Amino acid sequence: MKVALIGMGSVGKGVAGVIARKDLGLTITGIADSTSGCVDPDGLDIANLLLNKSKNGCCGDRQISAMDVIKKADYDALIEVTPTNALTGEPAIGYIKTALLRKKHVVTSNKGPIALAYKELHALAHKNGVVLRYEATVAGAVPVMHTLEHGLAGNEILALYGVLNGTCNYILTRMADEGLTYEQALLEAREMGYAEADPTYDVQGIDAAIKLVILANTIWGNGVRLNDVDRTGIDLLTADALRLAEEEGCTIRLIAEAIPRKHILRVSPRILGKNHPLVVDGTLNALTLETDLAKEITLIGRGAGSTETASAIIGDLLFIKDRYARST
Ligand SMILES: NC(=O)c1ccc[n+]([C@@H]2O[C@H](COP(=O)([O-])OP(=O)(O)OC[C@H]3O[C@@H](n4cnc5c(N)ncnc54)[C@H](OP(=O)(O)O)[C@@H]3O)[C@@H](O)[C@H]2O)c1
Repeated sequence: MKVALIGMGSVGKGVAGVIARKDLGLTITGIADSTSGCVDPDGLDIANLLLNKSKNGCCGDRQISAMDVIKKADYDALIEVTPTNALTGEPAIGYIKTALLRKKHVVTSNKGPIALAYKELHALAHKNGVVLRYEATVAGAVPVMHTLEHGLAGNEILALYGVLNGTCNYILTRMADEGLTYEQALLEAREMGYAEADPTYDVQGIDAAIKLVILANTIWGNGVRLNDVDRTGIDLLTADALRLAEEEGCTIRLIAEAIPRKHILRVSPRILGKNHPLVVDGTLNALTLETDLAKEITLIGRGAGSTETASAIIGDLLFIKDRYARST
């Protein structure tokens, strides 16, 4: 199956590397970053492009834009891995719509378009006889969407509870384990490359809330929006709060929860017993799904990382390749 890759950052390079390394029946025929692009209907030389990207900062010809690649390249599925814009979803929404209108499948790790425009994009995909998949948008490598779609098919999902932001989880783990203040733990997270220079999205629970919106809309199709989430971050948590929880044999985690029967859609720091399944350490993510048939299922794994996120994208691509692709 031919694929075009838009975005050559951490995730894009991870995806390109896996496709180049493994014999998965996937050929990259178009690539673009923010300033350049290149196409070859017979397949690009990925090793060379990755080398060029690390040496020169661009992956192709500066006369070719990402939109040129999306509009003109010969591909079956678009891989959209550009930065998340949680306010407008652009330019990714435009990229995805353009590909869907060309009757190309789309796989994305970008939360913006899915949180803001999923209904419209899904309808457009359906109208054009293609699919839009987004496993990587929630909990990185953890196959949440595949589990919901296949493993738990026939179950009614009654509620979900998750640790969906690795940065917050790392900070809380370090505050509890080492008695660090929030500021010290945040600084350490930055030094480790787990927190952005501006950590607002993570520490104020916005990133977790966006993922909660994506999950809620996927499971219940209830059209919830970011503003519907009752949200408290971890930025005001004190070392004392962590210490008091510790004294009770508990700890604190930032929990995203959705319980439709109680009209709860919330992200907030919660006190949990230390052996609670959602008390995972470091940058791990965890998600408990409460269902009518299977009862409780908890998935744990890496919520970010270049190859970890590529794993989710590759899973979506191979699903499309097996089920839908017209050509290989
Ligand atoms: N990193 C993770 O572990 C992870 C996990 C799950 C989901 N995600 C999501 O996956 C997406 C990609 O993440 P990332 O970490 O790979 O980001 P990143 O390292 O910042 O890379 C973004 C890439 O997109 C390119 N880009 C920026 N603006 C563009 C535009 N207007 N048109 C075309 N390309 C553009 C950048 O080009 P230049 O190279 O020229 O700057 C860069 O190659 C984000 O939406 C993120 O939220 C990431």
